[in-house]
Amino acid sequence: MSDRASKTDPQGVRLQKVLAQAGIASRRAAEDLIAQGRVSVDGKVVGEMGRRVDPDSAVIHVDGVRVVVREDLSYLAFHKPIGVHTTMHDDQGRPCVGDYVRNKTDTGGPRLFHVGRLDVETEGLLLLTNDGELAHRLTHPSYEVAKTYLADVPGTIPKDLGKRLRAGVELEDGLAKVDSFKLVDALPGQSLIELVLHEGRNHVVRRLLDAVGFPVFRLVRTAVGEVRLGNQRPGTLRPLNRPEVGSLFSAVGL
Ligand code: URA
Repeated sequence: MSDRASKTDPQGVRLQKVLAQAGIASRRAAEDLIAQGRVSVDGKVVGEMGRRVDPDSAVIHVDGVRVVVREDLSYLAFHKPIGVHTTMHDDQGRPCVGDYVRNKTDTGGPRLFHVGRLDVETEGLLLLTNDGELAHRLTHPSYEVAKTYLADVPGTIPKDLGKRLRAGVELEDGLAKVDSFKLVDALPGQSLIELVLHEGRNHVVRRLLDAVGFPVFRLVRTAVGEVRLGNQRPGTLRPLNRPEVGSLFSAVGL
């Protein structure tokens, strides 16, 4: 039992109260979820109504989706603008992600950090969190979640390019390949393509497209796993919603 729970109640907090505080449902509706066998704690479906849990350590799922009950954890989507460095602090005073986060978020818990990175010239979705375990898994090669990019490239895309990129292209640090490739728009002298990759090596999309003769002149990351950038404006932050957080946990087996 953690300090917080043990200080308030040595037995823990009633599950329906924890679910209600996490915004899942009213206490009454949470009781129904429990009665319907839709709630599990630490991997086991809860069968009894009086169950108490430690909100700081219990792993709770509703309908198989992880529910975050810790109030000190934050999960945010940031639209990193072009020209902003993916660091929380820049010694040389260059624009960085930290400039957008400071004073705008007060999580009351551990400091936020960025999950992976985007090149200074790349814009788009960057996740920020203070949940070290989730961030670690999201960037770990064995869990790498799919990331979706839109790239503007010069010229006309040959029919076999998708096949070549799916098969893999040898880069200086090994083979890189895409999971999927789609031509989104073809304009005179310019093409817009969408690529989905699992990996996170430095500059991998730019290097990959360079290697096949299509140097990128604009790159936007539009999704990380099931979390989408949508029409979020550059420079803005938004909290992820519950299904989005749940989808990230599921993607990395938490
Ligand atoms: N690939 C790149 O080339 N740049 C990024 O920022 C991310 C992936």
